[in-house]
Amino acid sequence: MNIARNDVGQGPVVLFIHGFPHNKSLWSGQLAALQTSARCIAPDLRGFGESDAGEPYSVEQYADDMAQLLGELYVESAVVAGLSMGGYVALAMWRRHPKLVRALVLADTRAGADHEEGKRKRDDMIAMAQSKGVAAVADAHITGMLGKSTREKSPELVASVYTMLAATPLEGVVGGLQAMRDRPDSIPVLATIDVPVLIIVGDEDVLTPPKESRLMHDSIAGSVLEVIPGAGHLSNVEQPARFSQSLVGFLARVSGD
Ligand code: MLT
Repeated sequence: MNIARNDVGQGPVVLFIHGFPHNKSLWSGQLAALQTSARCIAPDLRGFGESDAGEPYSVEQYADDMAQLLGELYVESAVVAGLSMGGYVALAMWRRHPKLVRALVLADTRAGADHEEGKRKRDDMIAMAQSKGVAAVADAHITGMLGKSTREKSPELVASVYTMLAATPLEGVVGGLQAMRDRPDSIPVLATIDVPVLIIVGDEDVLTPPKESRLMHDSIAGSVLEVIPGAGHLSNVEQPARFSQSLVGFLARVSGD
């Protein structure tokens, strides 16, 4: 299984895990901003971007792939930063490979599992992807991906995010939807997290709204919550400078611990 990745910079390792249906380019703003102070590793999850596709698809398997990648790169531990589905994978890394997790960044994500209605919507989306293609999935997701401010003020950003969504291979889309549908509830795990945690959310995020971040913040002792104004679900893309500034501050704190 070849896991494609960008790997730039030197220093403490940050593993950047993208969401659905994204790829490693999601993090280009953060790699540019952090590579002078950190080693930034941004992979494509299996089935996404330039990585190989292949069953099984589950958040546990994605987490195991990330652990294997870190092993191949001789990385002993990393700050694991996941956005949305990437946050589900980051929490799975904590459950399955806690020694690899130096600290966590949980961006625009949630800890709970899908409810029955949510699982049905995943099945509907799988059926739509298979019958109408990935562009239909991109059409269904683009509005929720970005905040109202971005959609009103930055049509070029909307277009570039749409291009990323629509470029996802069909197998990765179907596999990602299955993985998210079947992911376990991580809420009971939150109280076990004893590494530094930064939680970030755009104040206009409607997919994983700020109340989900507050729930994680309330459940993880010592966690820090940052709400980014003028950003939606892709807060790192919509407000890259603000997001990266939060990360730089967090890394300094983690390195000083
Ligand atoms: C994501 O951005 O990764 C997805 O929207 C998350 C989800 O659908 O649960």
